[in-house]
Amino acid sequence: MVHVRKDEIILNNIITAQALGKSYGGFRALKGISFNIKEGECFGFLGHNGAGKSTTMRMIYGLSTVDEGTLSMFGQKIILTPPEIKSKLGIVPQEDNLDPDLTVIENLEVYGALFGLDGSKLRERSKELLISMGLQDKENSSVESLSGGLKRRLVIARALINAPKIVVLDEPTTGLDPQARHLVWQKLRSLKSIGVTLILTTHYMEEAMQICDRLVVMHEGEILAEGSPRELIARCVLPYVIELHMPADSVPSDLREKVEKANGEILQVADGIFLYCENGQLLWEKLKDWGIPQHACLLRPSNLEDVFLKLTGKGEEE
Ligand SMILES: Nc1ncnc2c1ncn2[C@@H]1O[C@H](COP(=O)(O)OP(=O)(O)OP(=O)(O)O)[C@@H](O)[C@H]1O
Ligand SMILES: [Mg+2]
Repeated sequence: MVHVRKDEIILNNIITAQALGKSYGGFRALKGISFNIKEGECFGFLGHNGAGKSTTMRMIYGLSTVDEGTLSMFGQKIILTPPEIKSKLGIVPQEDNLDPDLTVIENLEVYGALFGLDGSKLRERSKELLISMGLQDKENSSVESLSGGLKRRLVIARALINAPKIVVLDEPTTGLDPQARHLVWQKLRSLKSIGVTLILTTHYMEEAMQICDRLVVMHEGEILAEGSPRELIARCVLPYVIELHMPADSVPSDLREKVEKANGEILQVADGIFLYCENGQLLWEKLKDWGIPQHACLLRPSNLEDVFLKLTGKGEEE
């Protein structure tokens, strides 16, 4: 980490991908994507099912080879992530891969032993991690007896046993209840505060907003946009949105013209119509003149979900 000014810190790239591609048979799952992940940041990958997020994660954590383009980690060009780099990684795969024959704490200890940890140090660390994931009461339970969300939390705890420098989290909070999700966010923030680099995929826009310093939006093997959550919102969508949730036949047929005339943008989503504008209040006032009942509408500031809908929706139309 190089300090240049009090208010500006330049972070080194810890992972660099250039024109990274992957094909399965004749199908091109990743179409040559490029990104840099900086040391100590949380870098997110958003995208629909099948966008190529896990394919990218698997190449980073060494479950899949780099066949096209380049991937560098810690300044070293990788074809298949070597053991000395793997030992610096914490891995939360999308699919839980716990050992069902072991207890909760044994899962941590057996995994820790792979990194040369043992004895009281390993036991202490395992217990600390169980506490941080709210699993202290499950220490001696069998893995099979855990609910889906508890298993997920154990996978996250296990990923941290070797005090990794980079943690790769492929949908870490899918299936977690809101409290557990906050617990995970708290842990991720505390890891970031000690300089750990986080790489996260998620379908939860709030999670990306809360945790990610920068992120990319992927679609069908390509990167559509990159930036901080705030930058993306400012760059990709107008600042306010009015959501219309009403039957299609009660929406004025010339709504698009009306909205565009008012310098707004209109987006059809599955369960309604979203109107984007510079001045939410001004457009809100026009709704009545347009015959749209305000009780069927919601005015709110635009967020990352709007960015996602706009970018990936456009991708689908094209
Ligand atoms: N081993 C494989 N063999 C064949 N096709 C694969 C394989 N792994 C992934 N794919 C295909 O590659 C594409 C990208 O898959 P990937 O798992 O990376 O998507 P994803 O963005 O992680 O999606 P999700 O949000 O559903 O997890 C998909 O079309 C998928 O079907
Ligand atoms: Mg995936």
